[in-house]
Amino acid sequence: MSSTSTLNVDDKSVELAVKEGTIGPSVVDISKLYAQTGMFTYDPGFTSTAACESKITYIDGDKGILLYRGYPIEQLAEHGDFLETCYLLLYGELPTAAQKADFDYRVTRHTMVHDQMNRFFTGFRRDAHPMAVMVGSVGALSAFYHDSTDISDPHQRMVASMRMIAKMPTLAAMAYKYSIGQPFVYPQNDLDYTSNFLRMCFAVPAEDYKVNPVLSRALDRIFILHADHEQNASTSTVRLAGSSGANPFACIAAGIACLWGPAHGGANEAALKMLEEIGTPERIPEYIAKAKDKNDPFRLMGFGHRVYKNYDPRARIMQKTTHEVLNELGIKDDPLLDVAVELEQIALKDEYFIEKKLYPNIDFYSGITLKAMGFPTSMFTVLFALARTVGWIAQWSEMIEDPSQRIGRPRQLYTGSPKREYVTLAQRG
Ligand code: SDX
Repeated sequence: MSSTSTLNVDDKSVELAVKEGTIGPSVVDISKLYAQTGMFTYDPGFTSTAACESKITYIDGDKGILLYRGYPIEQLAEHGDFLETCYLLLYGELPTAAQKADFDYRVTRHTMVHDQMNRFFTGFRRDAHPMAVMVGSVGALSAFYHDSTDISDPHQRMVASMRMIAKMPTLAAMAYKYSIGQPFVYPQNDLDYTSNFLRMCFAVPAEDYKVNPVLSRALDRIFILHADHEQNASTSTVRLAGSSGANPFACIAAGIACLWGPAHGGANEAALKMLEEIGTPERIPEYIAKAKDKNDPFRLMGFGHRVYKNYDPRARIMQKTTHEVLNELGIKDDPLLDVAVELEQIALKDEYFIEKKLYPNIDFYSGITLKAMGFPTSMFTVLFALARTVGWIAQWSEMIEDPSQRIGRPRQLYTGSPKREYVTLAQRG
């Protein structure tokens, strides 16, 4: 159902259509505003702007709700596995047993990468950040898989989607192995998706590797939590890149580059480094004061969110998973966890954080869990990118298949110099 809203600009009055969604805020359609008024809207950071219509993920920031295709994240994380969530995000419905088996089979048989990629990796310095390697190697996939880069062909789009979801764990594991000077481990088809990834990361040729099922289940759940999140910065980057017709591998590489930022997916690495820097609960008040100090650029990493003005529902599940993993590994008292729990309790009682509605987000606890599993901090955002690839692909596909989609091209408020005549060098003195 839609109604209208009236906007009075100078002596003009324009009727703007109001569109309602299934749930959540309605939108005022301003797509014709410039033609009608000669004016743009102004919304740096897009805090009040809906850039698209989507059926994939819904977030209620005030209530701390996250739904993938209508299903609460808590239920998907509890009852399903990551590939089930991938199927749901891509096709809109939970798979039947037969559909799930077929999807798992197809993903599993796309996990190997073109063997020449091995030589591509050796071009990187050993100490390159794994995210730099991921941006480069994922972008390079378009140089190896020409037969799935024509975005106008639905079959090629499907092949590219399966390749991306299937090959990200292999590339992520290769980035990790390369950074520690160990040989690449090939995927094994008799392992499930996340067990395969753990084996590719931690197996060595010198001995057999047995996947810990508790850790594999925990990491699989972590992937579900990170799979999609509406129109966040990296997803919007993928959509904008895709709107020009760029191939899917290039678009996902753009998403990885954006996710790397510490304000976004890089926050899990930054949050763990922050906890290590704080070191002990006694030093927490000093850092809380720094976070509140307007003149200090320090922020509590893993805290705050553009949309969630309540507890990030993923952070709750993440916290539970952290305890599960530490128990399984027999880590009785993790000093970083002590600092994190104490920091959270102090911050949530502090007027500044209450007034600004700053709560722990998904990145606050994830680092502790991943470190306990044996991943270096430099791999944390790589794991985020691995999991978010399906969300990026689902959003990219939705954008490509949207009949109203056109190249994204925002405008601006120009405050630079008015037109002026060129002054020759001689005249400039
Ligand atoms: C992710 O968008 C998504 O969905 C992202 C994500 C996903 O799944 O894709 O959820 C993943 O990126 C989670 C967020 C991870 N980032 C961090 O944890 C970094 C620390 N957080 C902040 O940088 C910040 O909270 C953001 C970037 C997450 C959100 O920033 P906003 O929405 O632009 O909010 P803001 O910067 O305008 O802050 C509002 C106020 C400001 O104070 P005032 O200027 O109003 O006085 O809150 C303050 C900020 O200074 N503030 C913080 C703070 N976060 C915001 N103060 C101290 N510590 C913080 N963490």
